[in-house]
Amino acid sequence: MIDKIKELIAEADAFTTQSQEEVEAFRIKFLGKKGLLNTYFAEFRNVANDQKKEFGQAINQLKNTAQDKVNTLKEGLANSEEAVSSGDLSRPGDPVSIGARHPISIVKNQIIDIFSNIGFNVSEGPEIEDDWHNFTALNLPEYHPARDMQDTFFIQTNPDILLRTHTSSVQVRYMENNVPPIRTISPGRVYRNEAISSRSHCFFHQVEGLYIDKDVSFADLKQTLQYFTTEMFGKSKIRLRPSYFPFTEPSAEIDVYWGLETETDHKITKGTGWLEIGGCGMVDPNVLKNCNIDPEEYSGFAFGVGIDRIAMLLHQISDIRLLSENDVRFLEQFKSAL
Ligand code: DAH
Repeated sequence: MIDKIKELIAEADAFTTQSQEEVEAFRIKFLGKKGLLNTYFAEFRNVANDQKKEFGQAINQLKNTAQDKVNTLKEGLANSEEAVSSGDLSRPGDPVSIGARHPISIVKNQIIDIFSNIGFNVSEGPEIEDDWHNFTALNLPEYHPARDMQDTFFIQTNPDILLRTHTSSVQVRYMENNVPPIRTISPGRVYRNEAISSRSHCFFHQVEGLYIDKDVSFADLKQTLQYFTTEMFGKSKIRLRPSYFPFTEPSAEIDVYWGLETETDHKITKGTGWLEIGGCGMVDPNVLKNCNIDPEEYSGFAFGVGIDRIAMLLHQISDIRLLSENDVRFLEQFKSAL
């Protein structure tokens, strides 16, 4: 009988299957109420005393072997069922949706890279700003008519607090807290009380640039902008058109020569070949004074460019509203971008 049990142990040990039913049949055959084990346990009392020990050990071994086998087979089947339902290793996996960077972030990061290559750091300031940093320190005292150039959202209960209308406010904060030489760019969101259309929105993004040191000249400004447009657009021809900003003197609008080769070139440049990307100028001595920098010792330049505008140009986005709606069908298209 002991030999028979040893055969069964070998049989149980060798058993394998992929089917739930066969595992169950195995279990019933060995461990079921009327199964082999119970039959042998019942035989136990008929076994001769001197064989009881060996016999007992044998059926215990059979029991453990059969029980372990059932457990491992069941576990294996459960795992492979899970694998089948969640994508078998041999099947193509379920598509995993990876995110894409927002076009504003893509362009912002490019601008940061370009300027960090020439020693500019990145600074930030608050979007909820006070009158001093957004206007007064930038040479725009109360009642200055140029304040109307930027339709401002004020906080109703406190006219001193507003949503910043430009990132030039960060210039002021940076100069107040640092000593020259200063080379910084400040990307961020700005707000204007404007009617929303395909071309304008009540918030958008700018990058402010500021360079303050001894003997900084307009030539440095022009050279820096030219470097920027070459890196950003692959266009090195720029034009600085005289303009007016209260915080710079002299001031200029920055135009890039885009070309007139394609129909799109004609469309986006309105037939002129030139494209305006921002404003710039030499920091007004009053602004330096307001920020505790001596204009007799230091000079500098500043500029401000629109990130949304650049993103729209580079990625041929025709409606600025797409940049804030966060429609995944739009955003998904930037997966292959940086
Ligand atoms: N702050 C200006 C605006 O929002 C842009 C600008 C113009 C920034 C000239 C400058 C600058 O730093 O020098 O329209």
